[in-house]
Amino acid sequence: MAKPKILLQFDPDPQPSVFDSVVAIDSGVDQLLRHGGLTVADVRGLVYGAMFTRGPEDLHQTAIFVGGSNVAAGEELLAEVRQTFFGPMRVSVLMDANGANTTAAAAVLAVGKHLDLKSITALVLAGTGPVGQRVARLLAGQGSTVRVASRSQAKAQAVCEAIVGRIPDGRLSAVAAGNSDEAEKVLDGVDVVIAAGAAGIELLSAAARRNATSLKVAVDLNAVPPVGLAGIKPTDKAADRDGIIAYGAIGVGGLKMKIHKRAIQQLFEANDQILDAEEVLALGKEVLG
Ligand SMILES: NC(=O)c1ccc[n+]([C@@H]2O[C@H](COP(=O)([O-])OP(=O)(O)OC[C@H]3O[C@@H](n4cnc5c(N)ncnc54)[C@H](OP(=O)(O)O)[C@@H]3O)[C@@H](O)[C@H]2O)c1
Repeated sequence: MAKPKILLQFDPDPQPSVFDSVVAIDSGVDQLLRHGGLTVADVRGLVYGAMFTRGPEDLHQTAIFVGGSNVAAGEELLAEVRQTFFGPMRVSVLMDANGANTTAAAAVLAVGKHLDLKSITALVLAGTGPVGQRVARLLAGQGSTVRVASRSQAKAQAVCEAIVGRIPDGRLSAVAAGNSDEAEKVLDGVDVVIAAGAAGIELLSAAARRNATSLKVAVDLNAVPPVGLAGIKPTDKAADRDGIIAYGAIGVGGLKMKIHKRAIQQLFEANDQILDAEEVLALGKEVLG
């Protein structure tokens, strides 16, 4: 008989995310072991507990989810988890701190429903946060030309260089744009704008959006008023807004949730998977069929 599916939830926040727990249970996990307030120093012992209890033939029935609100802290936990594995002694891991990977994948897939990602120029507003960086990275990986925007040109440039380090043929450029007037100046020739700004920050006015004649699709990931792209409602899902196709944060959220659940289920298919941004995007493509 198959062993129960056990998921270890690794979370740097004092209280492990209830959201992540509910999604895990709804995805078919039999036993959820929730670890909050986790530091890098805690990881090794917990991973040993996961690796050394079941035989190699049953290791795929144990997996790790790295979540919580702090993406940088989650990345450190993930790095330590990877360091702890050796040879076949490993379990599969999904990284989705702050929903960054599933959200970025859902945003990119939403655009891909309407346009060929290989032939678009995309502007990622606030492309320096954990979600925006992943959006830019995933688009670059799909062959899009990507403009990464930030209030700081140097910060945007650092993001571009980090992505080119992973994707040497990535076509990326850094632009300084942290408000609507600045963003309007870098919209020329842009097919897609994705706003990944902090909650409650408007990055593009409705008038500036209407003036962007090349724009075809707009995605706003900020649901907190004021939204990032003025005039686009959080619930918009392929809505027509002044002749362009618009998605708001809640409109993208349905696909994000499906991808999250699919990724949890995928963990139990084999014991050697690390599901980070690119792998999550690939699973999202399967979800869309
Ligand atoms: N729909 C979903 O399921 C879902 C899931 C996760 C996140 N989200 C949303 O996705 C968005 C991005 O998340 P995140 O965690 O990556 O965001 P974040 O780290 O809080 O902020 C992203 C970027 O916003 C820019 N920013 C901050 N304050 C600003 C200001 N006053 N003016 C202009 N730009 C400013 C910063 O870029 P610079 O300093 O480089 O300018 C920052 O790097 C958020 O709105 C979040 O709520 C949605």
